[in-house]
Amino acid sequence: PGVGAPTRHKVVISRNLGPDVMPLLTQRSDLEIVLWPENRVCDRKWLLENIAGATGVLVMLSEKIDAEFLDAAGPNIRVVSTMSVGYEHADLKELAKRGVRFGYTPDVLTDAVADLSWPNFTWSPFSFCGPQLSATSTHPSRTAGFIGFGRIAQATLARLVPFGFTHCLYTGNPSIAPDPAFDAEIAAKYNVREVRRVSLDELARESDVVFVLAPGGPSTYHIVDEKFLKGMKRTGVLVNTSRGTLVDSDALTKALREGWLWGAGLDVVEGEPNVTADHPLVKEPRCIVLPHIGSATTETRIGMATLAVNNLLGGVLGQTMPAELDI
Ligand code: DGY
Repeated sequence: PGVGAPTRHKVVISRNLGPDVMPLLTQRSDLEIVLWPENRVCDRKWLLENIAGATGVLVMLSEKIDAEFLDAAGPNIRVVSTMSVGYEHADLKELAKRGVRFGYTPDVLTDAVADLSWPNFTWSPFSFCGPQLSATSTHPSRTAGFIGFGRIAQATLARLVPFGFTHCLYTGNPSIAPDPAFDAEIAAKYNVREVRRVSLDELARESDVVFVLAPGGPSTYHIVDEKFLKGMKRTGVLVNTSRGTLVDSDALTKALREGWLWGAGLDVVEGEPNVTADHPLVKEPRCIVLPHIGSATTETRIGMATLAVNNLLGGVLGQTMPAELDI
């Protein structure tokens, strides 16, 4: 800029955020906006070339944020804002080491993902016939098991109770002691008979439906493996609406073929988006696979995009970010 010209911050956006949200950026005179021009996952080479000199970058969960990315951005970079609640695609240590702030989009998608997470069975004489959700005389209780018990898991529990679920089990970080007061509070809040933190083995054994709702990353990689699946009830159902990497796809395929559990509903599969019609889980009749659409309501996506933009702006301007991850 010439003498006295206002500073314009370069910001790079890896996907068009649509007519409701893009104006929050394009109408500002203090930003130089560089936008990936195509309606497909942003090309890595394009991204690395274009982020040089950027103060902020707004990305999707398809973009890997690592040392290479930060090197390519250079010393001006102040903030990376992801339009996702999950952040296993970002190397948080690398961001922290360089003092780069990181924004994400919690809360705004909790309801949409929970709406999708509760199992969806249809009735028909024996084909597409699944275990009943409400308690019966032969099964006087129904247990939901959660791998990960955060916002989305609790919102899913709230949706399950009117369908007849009576018990809730969940797994937690083993380095944090169980908290009976928390369990009692959740039981009262959602009107279930029992809420209890248990081991993975007990969760597999006791749950009628297991919901995988924990973050991705190395600590949860293949947490649902052959041992876990073998331990489930034969009438059990596995629902994964978090990240594909938590479930070993080969083990699940084998488990479904051999009837170790009743069925599975997956919104995420490891290896996505390269999951095609000939994938064994897509072909498996006991498995319903969706293309990672848990948060796909218009309102939620606009909420996520708006939050990602506000995080970006907060970081670029050195102000408060509405959802900054503590790294
Ligand atoms: C997220 O935000 O992490 C979801 O998986 C996609 O909306």
